[in-house]
Amino acid sequence: ADLNFDADKRAAAIAAVAEVRADMLVGLGTGTTAAFAIRALGERVAAGLAIRAVATSQNSAALARECGIAVIDFADVAHVDLTIDGADAIDPHCRAIKGAGGAMLREKVVATASRRMIVIADGSKQVQTLGTARVPVEVLPFARSSVLAVLGESATLRMGTDGLYRTDSGNLIADCRFDLSDLEATARWLESIPGVLGHGLFLDEVDAAYIATAGVVTRLER
Ligand code: A5P
Repeated sequence: ADLNFDADKRAAAIAAVAEVRADMLVGLGTGTTAAFAIRALGERVAAGLAIRAVATSQNSAALARECGIAVIDFADVAHVDLTIDGADAIDPHCRAIKGAGGAMLREKVVATASRRMIVIADGSKQVQTLGTARVPVEVLPFARSSVLAVLGESATLRMGTDGLYRTDSGNLIADCRFDLSDLEATARWLESIPGVLGHGLFLDEVDAAYIATAGVVTRLER
């Protein structure tokens, strides 16, 4: 791991975790940056902060429990107070691409249920436009070939250590490169394909971002 990025990931995470207040229900993201937030939140819990959390992945739930955070089942939850998550790319309008870690469907469900959603990132994730970034698409296994055909030639099924990669929900991921000149149209098109369960374009969900570059944290607000 790049140690400088690790320091920036931690700095962004600590800035976001400072927004957590007592009695909140906190949404925990997935990935290496979100892991810094989970650890920072665990330290605040150890110091006496009373919160509960829901997790966007089994990995994050396990890490949170190790850190002493009370994790409840999201299936029992209608609203989350504050969610803190990473991103693969984020533009100046707080539009993001997520899902390199494969958790974007649960991440979007939790983000949508959240009163406030904060992205945390090191400066390498900051982009002027989302441009031609890779977009992960979660695919129902039953629809593997038919959906791949609709997604087009750029779509490649993500591989895991033992065959096709499976999400926590048992689905497949197609990594795609689309013309992203009209982000909204691309998102609507993906959502219109039966068998597509989710995608990594987060166009409305993110309320704010803390981005750390060389130790300096800047805040974007939508
Ligand atoms: C997980 O599915 C993703 O959305 C992550 O939030 C994103 O890939 C960022 O991960 P890192 O913090 O590990 O770069």
